[in-house]
Amino acid sequence: MKDIIMQAAIENADARDAVVDPSLIPYRTLHSGAKIPGIGLGTFGSDHVSHDAVAGAVRYAVAIGYRHFDCASVYGNEARIGEVFGRMFQNGLRRDQVWITSKLWNDKHGENDVIPACEKSLSGLQVDYLDLYLVHWPFPNHHPPGCDVSARNLHAVPYIHENYMRTWRKMEELVDRGLVRNIGTSNMTIPKMQLLLRDARIKPVVNEMELHPHFQQPEFFRYLLERGIQPIGYSPLGSPARPERDRTPEDTSPTEDPVIREIAKRRGEHPAVVCIKWAIQRGQIPIPFSTNPRNMLSNLQTAVSEPLSADDMKAIEGIDRNCRLIKGQVFLWKDNQSWEDLWDVNGVITPA
Ligand SMILES: NC(=O)c1ccc[n+]([C@@H]2O[C@H](COP(=O)([O-])OP(=O)(O)OC[C@H]3O[C@@H](n4cnc5c(N)ncnc54)[C@H](OP(=O)(O)O)[C@@H]3O)[C@@H](O)[C@H]2O)c1
Repeated sequence: MKDIIMQAAIENADARDAVVDPSLIPYRTLHSGAKIPGIGLGTFGSDHVSHDAVAGAVRYAVAIGYRHFDCASVYGNEARIGEVFGRMFQNGLRRDQVWITSKLWNDKHGENDVIPACEKSLSGLQVDYLDLYLVHWPFPNHHPPGCDVSARNLHAVPYIHENYMRTWRKMEELVDRGLVRNIGTSNMTIPKMQLLLRDARIKPVVNEMELHPHFQQPEFFRYLLERGIQPIGYSPLGSPARPERDRTPEDTSPTEDPVIREIAKRRGEHPAVVCIKWAIQRGQIPIPFSTNPRNMLSNLQTAVSEPLSADDMKAIEGIDRNCRLIKGQVFLWKDNQSWEDLWDVNGVITPA
């Protein structure tokens, strides 16, 4: 049924009749001067949403007014999404009307790999520049998509700052060459960011990180804002459809939190809408994933409809549970480690 509704929505989608006027969506200005739409569409279908379905969602999203797309080579669907962009550009959508992000995957951190990896994303997405290119994880530890959390790369290593800087120099070169307009990081921590800010010629404009009402990362969030780095919040709804292998008994769900549900009920909105509103008003850029036309539209409308009250914002600030859902276990580099070792929870980079 869902597929039929989606198909009908896609067939009727037309970039000329955006339901939400993109000019009303709040933009944020990055320290490079670039203006980025304050909400985007995630494109990670994980192992349950096909590449075609994600590409269809992108097409529908452009038609209803989304102008920001969070892509990555590891999602495996850039070529499909590129076909959509290619067709839409032919039909009149201008390249400068959409913000396109992609990410360097962990097996491409090598000095000779960064530029070809970016070029592959560019050709897949059918564009000649990216608005933003991120280092997806600060670890070069590749693992195959869909593997179990217990899987380990035999050659896995901890964070080695000199190596990360070699990768970053190539990211800077991508800007110099005009292949990407902005560069940023993802899944960083304060101690790693301190080193990068010390040594970077071009500072990251954003850090993409898990952010939702049950995982607010207040200290890191403040740290970034104070340094002019824009947080982009992934899994803004608590990634309710993530695979079983990525769940632990301690995980909680922000959309089921009684405070979120009470606010949603009072306002006659879905709890997901409350989570996204909170994200935008707090100052991060949420990138909710959806392939359901109704959800996609209601998520986008949060950016232009009645904001949450100051009291509601305060109440949501109070429900942080420090509950990280995307733990990254597959990036661990030796036996008997805890996933917390990836996140420098003691304020220093976890030693090798
Ligand atoms: N940088 C990184 O390392 C990293 C890591 C994880 C994710 N990301 C990015 O962040 C994006 C979003 O994260 P995510 O996919 O983990 O989780 P999410 O956006 O928190 O959750 C997506 C799920 O919520 C459902 N949903 C969306 N809107 C809804 C609504 N209004 N009402 C009810 N349900 C709704 C979707 O189902 P329907 O399709 O049925 O709407 C989908 O199953 C990813 O797609 C990816 O682009 C980046």
